[in-house]
Amino acid sequence: MSLRQKRVVVVGGTSGIGLAVAQGAVAEGASVVVGSSTADKMASVKDKLQGAEAITVNVREEGSVEAFFAKVGPFDHLVFTAGDWGQFRDARTIDQVDLEQARELFAVRFWGAVACVKHAHKHLRPGASITLTDGTVAHRPRKGAPLSTAMAGGIEHLVRGLAVDLAPIRVNGVCPAGIRTDVWASIPEALREERFRKMTERQPLPRIGEPEEVAEAYLYLMKGGYTTGQVLRVDGGATSV
Ligand SMILES: NC(=O)c1ccc[n+]([C@@H]2O[C@H](COP(=O)([O-])OP(=O)(O)OC[C@H]3O[C@@H](n4cnc5c(N)ncnc54)[C@H](OP(=O)(O)O)[C@@H]3O)[C@@H](O)[C@H]2O)c1
Repeated sequence: MSLRQKRVVVVGGTSGIGLAVAQGAVAEGASVVVGSSTADKMASVKDKLQGAEAITVNVREEGSVEAFFAKVGPFDHLVFTAGDWGQFRDARTIDQVDLEQARELFAVRFWGAVACVKHAHKHLRPGASITLTDGTVAHRPRKGAPLSTAMAGGIEHLVRGLAVDLAPIRVNGVCPAGIRTDVWASIPEALREERFRKMTERQPLPRIGEPEEVAEAYLYLMKGGYTTGQVLRVDGGATSV
């Protein structure tokens, strides 16, 4: 299976992992639509993604998601990489968790994905796929972060459930470890490489991943016509040790 002349929609495709997936799909001959919520990123993508279409969508709002897919029309592959880190940080003890803020943790990455699947699947052509995104915290819980583990693990089980529910649409996921994207930009540059070194020193491949490396997993999952219900870990071996 090839992406040539396929229409690929990447929600969250204006930066980081999603942008690398969009660039990879364009390079393989697909026509690409990217969606995200901020005007700045939508504008910046025009230089980085020649020939791709950019349409605004806020996955927190179901009406926005429905309107987005109505504008997109028929397409072949949905990739969901939208993520935000909101106001909620769950590095605290469970008895201190503010439940309203805790729900916020799921708003974009979990419920945003559900909203996109709900409104996208009726526009998908035969042979279609959907690929969602979680992270290695699903498999490597950290002290003080149980809700992040629950959220990421929930996405993996959503993949399995949807693969059965929406068959023959194929539904898969990608589970990255640390990848060099803007999510790390809040760490001062001088400290960032040291943080990456510490984060990855016990991995079989002891370095941060690059967006292009994880993008390969999404490109495979779009093309791999006999693969469904799977979550592909792209983690430098982090979850093997
Ligand atoms: N980078 C890592 O180290 C890493 C590791 C493990 C897992 N992951 C997962 O990989 C995914 C992508 O991460 P990334 O590093 O590529 O992040 P990123 O560079 O911050 O990209 C996130 C994308 O999501 C979009 N987005 C955020 N809120 C949105 C909303 N409400 N509606 C629509 N789009 C929205 C952003 O655009 P706008 O701001 O314009 O909306 C942006 O295009 C996330 O689920 C993250 O948890 C990342």
